[in-house]
Amino acid sequence: MKREKIIIANWKMQLSLAESIALAKKIKTKFAKFKAGAVAVCPNFVALCEVNKVLKGSNVKLGSQNVFWMEKGAYTGEVPPSVLKEVGCEYAIIGHSERRAILRESYEDINKKVRAVLNINGLTPVICIGESWEERKTDRRDFILTEQLQLALAGIDPMSKQKIIVAYEPIWAIGSGTAIEPSEADYAHKIIRLTLNQIFGLQKVANNFSIIYGGSISSKNVKSFVDLENIDGLLVGGASLDAEEFFKVATEITK
Ligand code: PGA
Repeated sequence: MKREKIIIANWKMQLSLAESIALAKKIKTKFAKFKAGAVAVCPNFVALCEVNKVLKGSNVKLGSQNVFWMEKGAYTGEVPPSVLKEVGCEYAIIGHSERRAILRESYEDINKKVRAVLNINGLTPVICIGESWEERKTDRRDFILTEQLQLALAGIDPMSKQKIIVAYEPIWAIGSGTAIEPSEADYAHKIIRLTLNQIFGLQKVANNFSIIYGGSISSKNVKSFVDLENIDGLLVGGASLDAEEFFKVATEITK
């Protein structure tokens, strides 16, 4: 069974509210007839409501760049999964390496966030994993990926309708301008799939999981990722900040 490709735009903290709305409008127009895969954009928290209004009725979906693990209470500055759903989100990025590095987010935190998101109907977690340059250089990548998955997914057993997206993002490739070798990405995705198979069993992994790649994808290098068996889509940073470029990337990967 061929899995639907998923292309997710991570706008990070690159755009103002006005710029987010303007880019959403352009992307909505560009993708008006796009049916080859699922497409989502992830603006900053403050822009979610307005971007949701722009995208309503279109085939471009909305996602958040973060989420908290509690639903309500004295947690200053945090946003719960139910509110993300309320403003139209269908995806929540969890544990991006920038948050892991700068905000000290741990895989224990990530695990709590994944659980909280899975509690909300129609909200899909996009769990980021990936090794650092040091870990890769010392040949520890496979071990690191396996460990990150085990921690992020500990005690979780998705029900038939719950989807989980794992985004493999080698930290050293993010924002570097150079994606990793496609064959290397395919290999890492294979390791991820095998690990998931061991944890959840073949059938569940086939039904509930997608594995996407992120790290310096652009219209120039996306072609070489197209035919790779283990790549179900992309998490796109820099190249998603231009509607035309993002459209090219999405069109190529769904060929
Ligand atoms: P990049 O970012 O495409 O700009 O490398 C990807 C990401 O961090 O999700």
